[in-house]
Amino acid sequence: MQNRIYIKDLKDYVGKEIIIAGWVDIRRDQGKMVFFDMRDMSGKVQCVSLPNHAEATEKAKEIRPEWVLKIIGLVNKRPEKNINPNVLNGDVELEVTNIEVLNKAETPAIDLSTNGYEIGEEHRLEKRYLDLRRERMQKNIRNRHKVAKLIRDYLNKEGFTEIETPILSRSTAEGARDFIVPSRLDQGKFYALPQAPQQYKQLLMASGMEKYFQMAKCMRDEDLRGDRQPEFTQLDMEMSFVDREDVMALNEALLIEIVKKLYPDKEIQEIPFPRISYKEAMEKHGSDRPDLRKDKENKNLLAFCWVIDFPFFEKADDKNNPQAEGEWTFTHNPFSATKSEFHDDLLNKKNIPNILTNQYDIILNGFELGGGSIRNHEPEALLAVYEIMGVKKEEVEKNLFYMLEAFRSGTPPHGGIAWGFDRLMMLLENEPNIREVIAFPKNGEGKDLTMKSPSEIGVKQLKELGIKLGK
Ligand code: AMO
Repeated sequence: MQNRIYIKDLKDYVGKEIIIAGWVDIRRDQGKMVFFDMRDMSGKVQCVSLPNHAEATEKAKEIRPEWVLKIIGLVNKRPEKNINPNVLNGDVELEVTNIEVLNKAETPAIDLSTNGYEIGEEHRLEKRYLDLRRERMQKNIRNRHKVAKLIRDYLNKEGFTEIETPILSRSTAEGARDFIVPSRLDQGKFYALPQAPQQYKQLLMASGMEKYFQMAKCMRDEDLRGDRQPEFTQLDMEMSFVDREDVMALNEALLIEIVKKLYPDKEIQEIPFPRISYKEAMEKHGSDRPDLRKDKENKNLLAFCWVIDFPFFEKADDKNNPQAEGEWTFTHNPFSATKSEFHDDLLNKKNIPNILTNQYDIILNGFELGGGSIRNHEPEALLAVYEIMGVKKEEVEKNLFYMLEAFRSGTPPHGGIAWGFDRLMMLLENEPNIREVIAFPKNGEGKDLTMKSPSEIGVKQLKELGIKLGK
């Protein structure tokens, strides 16, 4: 729209006639005059329609909340007694000279004037496009962008390249259940959606990219919780020729930068972030993601810590786990290296319960924010991990041939980490769950209530895919 002024900039146009466009926020009819607030992506302003602009005032009497208008008006300084120094545009108002209705709106299905916590979440998610109009959600989504932008700029300066990896990928045992996509061209075969870009990022290290990162979409078919979605975003990174200290130092500095630059009201409890071994965390706090906050009432306190020295293997006990109950399985990541003093134990497959991994988890206020490790870049070590889990060499050679071949082609030592980006935003925005910082989240049953997915598909589509439903 030509010559449109954003509402936040109106203070620079006092005494001038300008154009704004946006939504009617609230409206107060006072007989001959109509007062209403207009809202755009940048803020709100009070508008007043006076009897001397008869046509505009007639229209102003018709308008309702959430109608979309283009307004021509005169920016006036407010009389001294009406100035509110605490809000945007508290010292100006817009005298309306012309109103053009761009779109009418039915009465909104949910109240948009509050923070929305009091509204049933099902209603909010069904009408998410409305729900996102509320001030709190606008702030959350825009701040999410700001944090992502800072991360990209920071890592760019550090020499990282952002690289996209495939969404249509291959099913491999990675911890959770895969989401599966049937192939039409190769009937009876399936893609899997990535649980994380773990293997691709390691292949990128074999490719000589050296410093990779990605704001990566990850999909896991697991039971949902407040801090878990079937589809979520990781800040994923991997580096070549690094040891644990390099990865931890870079990530610690980046987290501190985010807080200092974008959340200056927040206080980091301890810098450098304290480090706790898994054993100590379990013994002292009964959790491998301890909440170390000294004052849990303080909303602005951030207690980061690193948890290190995890056992590499544990006995499988979880239905979600691909290993049979009672067999050895990895605690975190089959691609991790052991701590160097356990390297020979791994190759010799002895002392299994005591082998420690190079894994490091970053914890914030009792939430697992992220985790990573230095990897096995030697084929023998990766084979040994699978052998301990009861997977035969031939089977690994068949299923993970690309990883083993890459490791036999000149792959540098490497390591990395991934943060749950939604979790970070939830904690920075003091939100009770990650749905509040995701534009279109799934509900607790994994459903997208806005577009109503998952949904049935037609017989023709099924036929094309060569799929017959059992029921
Ligand atoms: P991991 O599986 O620990 O590691 O995942 C990294 C981080 O991602 C977040 N996360 C989730 N967030 C929301 N919903 C979920 N369902 C969900 N699952 C995980 C957590 C977690 O700490 N490839 C490795 C990383 C690496 O080793 O570099 C990985 O994915 O905050």
